[in-house]
Amino acid sequence: MTTTPENLRDQVVSAFGAAPDPRVRELFTKLAQHLHDFVIETNLTVDEWLAAVEFLTAVGKMSDDKRQEFVLLSDVFGISALVDFLNGPQGEDATENALLGPFYVSDAPLLDNGDSIVKQYEGEPLRLEGRVTGQGGAPLIGAQVEVWQIAANGAYDGQDPDMVENNMRGRFLTDEDGRYWLMTNRPFGYSVPTDGPVGRLLDLLQRDPMRAAHIHLRVSAEGYQPLVTQLYDADCRYLDTDVVFGVRESLVTKLDQVEDGTLRARFDVRLVRAT
Ligand SMILES: [Fe+2]
Repeated sequence: MTTTPENLRDQVVSAFGAAPDPRVRELFTKLAQHLHDFVIETNLTVDEWLAAVEFLTAVGKMSDDKRQEFVLLSDVFGISALVDFLNGPQGEDATENALLGPFYVSDAPLLDNGDSIVKQYEGEPLRLEGRVTGQGGAPLIGAQVEVWQIAANGAYDGQDPDMVENNMRGRFLTDEDGRYWLMTNRPFGYSVPTDGPVGRLLDLLQRDPMRAAHIHLRVSAEGYQPLVTQLYDADCRYLDTDVVFGVRESLVTKLDQVEDGTLRARFDVRLVRAT
């Protein structure tokens, strides 16, 4: 059968439908259907198609092992958030997950509770503390709490070649009561990188490139599903407009002051058993 405007979509879908792996088949036939529908519904022009090709090419050229413009593109489309929602922890009182982001490293230094992750660029001091619990609220002893955050100069350590290694990141183990505590800086809202094609896209769409003020955490314990999440400062003005749709109400944390005037964030974590 030759190809016509009327049968093109079905021809593509059935060509993809020959893939032997059922999941591959499902993913690619659905993708073809939705892409064809998009082109038909928008009556896409040749110039627009070419602009899309050039845009994706630029996204690829901007990506390397230090910078992932494709992840940023996924983030600003809310696709990363959607995948997180679909795959988040399911369990009573389970702490919600949030985007990993591009700056996680798995081998941050192991620090003692009470230590500071601020090696360079002092900001407003913040004591971060909390308790890690499992099923039924039992404390998890020796759970690993990995923390990372933007430095007060506006960069993550992977973004700034002059920054001290592992500045603003560390691993902590919970004590016999499941508690962890450390010193850091108060987080602040910052712009995602706007010097690449995704930045131009945000500009075209008149979207604010700011992320809400957050601290990244990854919490893991034997027998439990690792949790990747973020704590958000309740007083941040970007909570409702976070450019990557990462804010969850349950993760918004009010910072309060302890006796000596230091700011404190209390962030408890409930993990779900591994299946
Ligand atoms: Fe971040």
